Amino acid sequence: MQSKTVRDYIRTIPDFPAKGIMFRDVTTLFADPRGMRLAVDQLLAPFAGQTIDAVAGLEARGFILGGAVAHQLGTGFVPVRKKGKLPGETYEQAYALEYGEAVMEIHVDALEAGAKVLMVDDLLATGGTAEAGIKLLERLGAEVVASAFVIDLPDLGGRARLEAMGQPVHALCAFE
Ligand code: PRP
Ligand code: ADE
Repeated sequence: MQSKTVRDYIRTIPDFPAKGIMFRDVTTLFADPRGMRLAVDQLLAPFAGQTIDAVAGLEARGFILGGAVAHQLGTGFVPVRKKGKLPGETYEQAYALEYGEAVMEIHVDALEAGAKVLMVDDLLATGGTAEAGIKLLERLGAEVVASAFVIDLPDLGGRARLEAMGQPVHALCAFE
């Protein structure tokens, strides 16, 4: 029997948080010891041997993955958070979601200019969240080496959007 892939650990919950959304739930992946390790190992695999100065994670599930990736790469971790959560001076960036609108923030002193950053999140849908993260990181003068996701939803256009910005995208699996 073939061993389970990252994709096999992900659960789909229909009509969450709104009717018509097929919610790809990574809590089942994170809860499994083998699934969690597989996901983290595969997220960082293409970047072995490259200079990565820091990992940035997008709230909320990007924190879980990004912290583990940073530990494994031996880098620090920088949170990109929903508005109103970071205590220091921040830059902010508004963005549209598959379902709603929001604002992301980063601490103005989170990174040195020129830092090479790997950005991590669980899922790429429209790419609005990731684009906001990249814009914030670039506003600090950082270089986003690539963005790594567990899940790509290619029909929602996020990968094409990031690639059109010249941003390399690494995703472990895709769902319709
Ligand atoms: C989800 C997901 C990504 C984002 C992707 O987060 O974790 O961050 O949506 O969507 P996009 O590519 O269309 O921008 P969500 O906004 O649900 O926030 P949460 O992680 O705080 O629940
Ligand atoms: N974020 C945006 N779209 C999503 C989806 N379909 N499943 C899980 N998280 C999401």
